[in-house]
Amino acid sequence: MPGFEWLDKEEQKIVNEVMQRGILFRYDMPLGVGKYVPEFEKAFAASVGARYALAVTSGTSALKVALTGLGLGPGDEVIVPGFTFVATWETVFDCGAVPVFAEVDQTLCLDPADVEKKISERTRCIVPVHMMGAQARVKEIKAIADRHGIPVLEDTAQAAGASLEGKALGTFGACGTFSLDAVKTITTGEGGMVVTDDEALYQNMSEYSDHGHDHKPVGRGNEGRRFIGMNFRMMELQGALGLVQLGKLPAMVARMRSIKSALKEALARVPGLTFRQIPDPEGDSATFVSWFLPTPEAAGRMAEILAEHGAGPVAWGKNTWHAYHNWEHLHAGATVVKSGWPFVRPEGRLSYPPDALPQTTALLHRCLSWQVMLGWDQARLQKMTEAINKVAVEF
Ligand SMILES: Cc1ncc(COP(=O)(O)O)c(C=O)c1O
Repeated sequence: MPGFEWLDKEEQKIVNEVMQRGILFRYDMPLGVGKYVPEFEKAFAASVGARYALAVTSGTSALKVALTGLGLGPGDEVIVPGFTFVATWETVFDCGAVPVFAEVDQTLCLDPADVEKKISERTRCIVPVHMMGAQARVKEIKAIADRHGIPVLEDTAQAAGASLEGKALGTFGACGTFSLDAVKTITTGEGGMVVTDDEALYQNMSEYSDHGHDHKPVGRGNEGRRFIGMNFRMMELQGALGLVQLGKLPAMVARMRSIKSALKEALARVPGLTFRQIPDPEGDSATFVSWFLPTPEAAGRMAEILAEHGAGPVAWGKNTWHAYHNWEHLHAGATVVKSGWPFVRPEGRLSYPPDALPQTTALLHRCLSWQVMLGWDQARLQKMTEAINKVAVEF
C-alpha cells in the first residue's frame, strides 16, 4: 500500500499552490472558500462511481462518521471480522455500540456463513473489511444483510483501486470508507473518505463531521443545525495531495499487479502452498500477496527461510494489530475510562475470549504475506525468487 513511494514534484507543486492561495480551511472563511478538498471529493466519487464522497481526517474517523451517520449507538450490535485493523471495532465501541466478531474464510475476509450465525435482533450494521487490497465476499454478505434489513458498511481502508466484477469496492453497501494514512495505497499523510449514493446518509455524515453545520450557503457561522456533531474535517493541504495521488492510482495498481503476478509464479513452485482466495482476481489492487501452508509449523519454517534470505514475510498468526487472538487489550476489557466503559455496561460486562474465533486463528497461523512495494525492481524480485527456491528445495 505504497502511495508514499511515489510522492514527488507533483505533490510538492500542488502543496505550494495551496500555500500561495493561503486558504487551508475547506469551507468558507474571510479569505475565501476551500477548493482542493471539494475537488478531491468530486474526483474520488467519480473514480469509484459513487454519487457522494466526504473527505475526513482519517480512515478511523471515516468509520466513526459512517457508523454515526447510519444512526448507530448504545443497544446496537455491529458484525465485524476477527481479522482487521483495530480501528474497525474501536469505532463501534466509540459510538456506544457493541462489536460482534465473526470468522474470516480463505478470502481472509468475513465468512458469510458465520455472519449469518452472528446476526441477532440487535444487529444494526455489518462491516466487511476488504483486507489487503482484495475483495470480501461482499455480494453474498449484502444479500444476507438485505434479507434481514441491515445496512452494510464496507471498510475499504486497505483497498483503494480495487473492484469486484468491474464495480469499485466501497460502493456495494450503504457506504464505504477509505483510509489515506501514511502507508495506504494513496496517501495524504493522514486522511479518510466515505462514499455513498444515499443523499440523506451523506447529509448526516457531512453535518456530523463538521459540528452539525448544515452547510446552507448563508456564510460560515450563520448556518443552522439539526443535531450535535464533531470535527473530522479534512484540510486543503490534504485535499491537494489527495488529488495528485488519486491521479497516480491506476499506474500504482498496474505496477503492483505485475510484481504480484511474478511473485505468485515463483511461489507456486512451493509444494503444499495454496494462495489466498480472491473472489475476482481482475479487480485485486495487488497491494499484498498472501498464501497458506498446510500447517502452522510449515508456515513458521517458510517464514524463517525467507527471512534468512532477506525476504521476511508478515506472519499473521503473530501479528498483534490485526488478529483477534492477539488483541489482549480487548480480551481483558482494558480501557482508560474509570467506570470500565465500553466493556462495563448497565446490562453487564462484555466478554471477548481469545479462543472465540477458532477458524480465523487457525487460518492466520498458516498464512504468510508480502506487502508489494512499487520500488521492487528486477534485482529485488530475483532475490525473492531465490529465497522462494530455497523453500521449494527444502519442502
Ligand atoms: C481495515 C482498516 N480500517 C481502518 C483503518 C484506519 O485508518 P486510519 O489509519 O486512516 O485511521 C485502517 C488503517 O490501517 C485499516 O487497515
